Amino acid sequence: MADDLKSAPDTGALLTLSGIGKTYVQTVLHDITLPLHAGQVLALTGENGAGKSTVSKIICGLEAASAGSMLLDGRPYQPTSRADAEAQGVRMVLQELNLIPTLSVAENLYLRQLPNRFGWINRRQLEQDARAQMARVGLTDIDPWTLVGQLGIGHQQMIEIARNLIGDCRLLILDEPTAMLTHREVELLFLQIARLKSEGVALVYISHRLEELKRVADRIVVLRDGKLVCDDALAGYSSADLVKLMVGRAADAELDLGGRTLGAPVLRVRELGRQGAVAPTSLTLHSGEIVGIAGLIGSGRTELLRLIFGADRADQGEVFVGEASVAARIGSPKDAVAAGIAMVTEDRKGQGLLLQQSIALNTTLASLPTVSRAGWLDAAAETVVATGFMQRLGIKARDAAQPVAQLSGGNQQKVVMARWFYRDCPVMLFDEPTRGIDIGAKFDIYQLLVGLAREGKGLAIVSSDLRELMLLCDRILVMSAGRVVETFERATWTQDALLAAAFSGYLAMPAGNDTTPLATAL
Ligand SMILES: Nc1ncnc2c1ncn2[C@@H]1O[C@H](COP(=O)(O)OP(=O)(O)OP(=O)(O)O)[C@@H](O)[C@H]1O
Ligand SMILES: [Mg+2]
Repeated sequence: MADDLKSAPDTGALLTLSGIGKTYVQTVLHDITLPLHAGQVLALTGENGAGKSTVSKIICGLEAASAGSMLLDGRPYQPTSRADAEAQGVRMVLQELNLIPTLSVAENLYLRQLPNRFGWINRRQLEQDARAQMARVGLTDIDPWTLVGQLGIGHQQMIEIARNLIGDCRLLILDEPTAMLTHREVELLFLQIARLKSEGVALVYISHRLEELKRVADRIVVLRDGKLVCDDALAGYSSADLVKLMVGRAADAELDLGGRTLGAPVLRVRELGRQGAVAPTSLTLHSGEIVGIAGLIGSGRTELLRLIFGADRADQGEVFVGEASVAARIGSPKDAVAAGIAMVTEDRKGQGLLLQQSIALNTTLASLPTVSRAGWLDAAAETVVATGFMQRLGIKARDAAQPVAQLSGGNQQKVVMARWFYRDCPVMLFDEPTRGIDIGAKFDIYQLLVGLAREGKGLAIVSSDLRELMLLCDRILVMSAGRVVETFERATWTQDALLAAAFSGYLAMPAGNDTTPLATAL
């Protein structure tokens, strides 16, 4: 199929890639030939490290191709920078956020136009325009003058999307735009995609989420190890076909949750809360147990984990670790780790990884005493540990010495997971553990998570993927508007019941209160 398309010169395409290749130390893209059509949504998928972001960055001027050429409207196209590509109507929502945290939302949205279109005096115009753009993606509950750095990562993602909807756009690439979004935001994004498509914009939609690809795209392109292995109309492919195409093998069968014993509590949280973020919350986590926390973005899920972990300060409440009758003194993440609590954060760039350092160092970072002798780091031991995890998690890299910055998004996430799998903590908190991880590797991570529970650890997992929680958890707490509104035991939940609970806290609010996510969704 791909060969047919390659040999037929495509005259109707907006942008055509011909024989595009990219080589760093190794070749990561080989001979990619691909026409992109106006008014068409192309789903681009494939395993972590397959080359999706790289090919997108070449189109958007962020990387230069090592081979091949591109035509835009039949004319040679060779963008020298992101700004150059944007000036030609080629835009991209990046997988890794790159907003400026110390500027406001409004300033980030109009960064490029600031000096000419808005003098510093014309704040009102800027504010008005920013509000209009934010409304398009449903961000009506945020003040345009809020500093981006103060926003949660989901909201930052929405702003990155809104920023790319401004101005002339003929080709838009969305690189895992929904990885940090929940249900409602995804729906709003899909409305925008439909609008752009009807306006004749060519879209490339990168995602590991099958159901999204099937809903949004007309055509599917699959990369494997930097090569194009499928380019076809999406209709006619079953989910099972797609999984096989994406990971090159059939999906794994059922997850085995057995072999665990539920033991004594490893964590007791009593009335822990923070004004304006999380209402006083109590929960108990037992040894061997996997508890899920569901809810919409901003419902307090991440905030609750951060309070337990000491990343934010609680105004009230206590945390008891293990059998202790005295509350743990947790004033910082360092205290939490010392007390036996680990947390895998959702924001790997901000809080998780030392990007310039090797996979080996990043893997052993939280547990340095175990790979050091008399205060000296034992590099050989570090490498052995990291190489083991690279195999177990299928981390795609040259070797354990490669800097994490050079890994694909999904492989970076796997390194974060490896670090905490290696660290021996009785309580493990996970915030979106499989964000950006491909379908095949997700299953490996689920098995490792269950393995931790088998070892007697207690796990709390925040996830926007309800099916993931339903697959893994013994219990699911649903948060809505800052509080736990309902708890479901396994076998008592349905996806609909979980969703209804997630929205319930907002429905109960007085009418006309437009600070609720729901108010803008309807
Ligand atoms: N600066 C770099 N130096 C060396 N190798 C790199 C660099 N940037 C990317 N790579 C490699 O290129 C390959 C493709 O990476 P890319 O980010 O395109 O994957 P992806 O398909 O987007 O994966 P994911 O689903 O994880 O986002 C990976 O093996 C990655 O390690
Ligand atoms: Mg990527």
